[in-house]
Amino acid sequence: MAERGIAVFGAGYIGLVTGACLAELGHRVVVRDINPERVRILRAGDVPIHEPGLGEMIARNKERLTFTEDLDQALAGAEVAYVCVDTPPSASGDADLSRVWSVIRSLTNAQGLRAVVMKSTVPVGTGARARVLLDEHGLSHVGYVSNPEFTAEGRAVTDFMSPDRIVIGQDDATAGALVVALHTGIDAPVATMDVKSAEMVKLASNALLATKISFANEIATLCENTGADVGEVLGAVGMDHRLGAHFLRPGIGWGGSCFPKDSEALRQMASNTGFHPQLLTAVINVNNIQKRRAVQHLKDELGDLAGKDIALLGMAFKPGTDDMREAPSTVLAGRLLAEGAQVRCWDPLARPAAGEPWDSVTRFATPQQALDGVDAVVIVTEWPELARLDWTEAHTLMRTPVMFDGRNLLDPARLREIGFRYTSVGRP
Ligand code: UGA
Repeated sequence: MAERGIAVFGAGYIGLVTGACLAELGHRVVVRDINPERVRILRAGDVPIHEPGLGEMIARNKERLTFTEDLDQALAGAEVAYVCVDTPPSASGDADLSRVWSVIRSLTNAQGLRAVVMKSTVPVGTGARARVLLDEHGLSHVGYVSNPEFTAEGRAVTDFMSPDRIVIGQDDATAGALVVALHTGIDAPVATMDVKSAEMVKLASNALLATKISFANEIATLCENTGADVGEVLGAVGMDHRLGAHFLRPGIGWGGSCFPKDSEALRQMASNTGFHPQLLTAVINVNNIQKRRAVQHLKDELGDLAGKDIALLGMAFKPGTDDMREAPSTVLAGRLLAEGAQVRCWDPLARPAAGEPWDSVTRFATPQQALDGVDAVVIVTEWPELARLDWTEAHTLMRTPVMFDGRNLLDPARLREIGFRYTSVGRP
C-alpha cells in the first residue's frame, strides 16, 4: 500500500477517528484544529473525547499522527485534505456550512494537493459549490470526493475499520481512486457514484434509521393502548429478513449529534426545493412527542409533579458516550422543572454544558445517592451499571417506588416483585 500524506481539518469526533484510522492504515496524517486548547491536549497525549479504542490507536500511531493549529504545517506534504468540521443547524434550519467553506478557502495554492474529501455531513449540492470555490482558489487540479461517514459514537473506530460499505462520490475518477486506495487494508464493498448521490446516501441512511426508531416508538404506544408487548411484537417483526431487527428498539426518543440535526437539515433541504416531505416530518414529530411521554407516565402515577423529587438515571443520549448533544434527558429535565419538580441526576460519563436546565438539576456521583428520598426515577440511558444495580436496595432508598424505564432495560416482573410501581415503553 502506498503511504500518503493526509491533512485532516477538524479534531472533533469525526476528524480524530478519521485521522487515527488513516494513520493506523499506514498514512502520514496531520490533524489541524483552530482550537488551541484542543491541540494542546492532543499534543500532551490526552484524548478530549470518550471513544473506545481511540486513545490506544492514537498512541500506537504517534510517529505518523501529529496535531497542529498551523495551516502550513498541515498542508506541507498533504496529497489529500479531509474536511471533518461540524455543520450545525443555522437559524434558518439549513446546515451552517461556514466552517466547511473556511477550510476550503484555506487550501488556496496547496499545489501538492490531489483530492479534497468531504467527511462532514452536508446538504446535497455542497460538492458542486465546493468545486466552484476550489477552481476560484487555484485548485482546479484537485479532485473533489464525497466520502460520508457512517460511524456511530461509542463504536466509531470499529465502524471506520470494518464498515458495511465505503461510499465514494467523485467528480474526478482519479481522485476517487486515490481515496479508495487510502482504505487499502479495509475489507468492505465500495459504492462509487456521483457527488450528489453520495451526499444523499448519508442523509437518506440517517433518515431511514430515525424512521425505524420512530416507527418502533409509535408501535410501542399502540401496544400500551391495546395490551400487546412491544418486545415480543418487534422481536418477531425483525425476524423477517426483509425488515431486519436493527434500530427497532423503542425508547425515550432518539437524540445525539446526528439524527436530530440531519433529519431537520434534510427536511429543510427538501423545503428549499419546494417539496414538503410528509413521512420525514412525521418521523421528527413522533420523536418530539416521545421525549415528553415520560412526563405523562409520571403524572399518571404521582398526579401533580410540583414539589416532587425525580431522579433521572443517565444523561448521555446513549450509553458508551459522554455526548449530551440533543440528549432526550435535556428535554425531560426541562419539562420536569417546568412542572415544578425538583430534578436530580446521575451519569457515569456525561457532563452537561453550563446553563439551563442542567444548572437547576442536582448531580450525584452514584445512582444510589441520586435515588435517596425521591418520589420517582426515570431510566433515561441504558447504562450497564443500571442493569447491574441492586434494585432491592435502591427500592428502600426511595420515598415512593415509582419507576419509568424509558429504555426497557429492566425486567418488569422482577421490579414489580421488589415493590416498584413500574412502567416501561410499550410493555404491559
Ligand atoms: C448515527 C448513525 O447510527 C451512524 O451510522 C451515523 O454515522 C451517525 O449517526 C452520524 O451521522 O454521524 P449515533 O448518533 O452515534 O450514530 O448513534 P446511534 O447509535 O445511531 O443512536 C442514535 C439515537 O437513536 C440514540 O439516541 C439511541 O438511543 C437511539 N436509538 C437507536 C433508539 O432509540 N432505538 C434504536 O433501536 C436505536
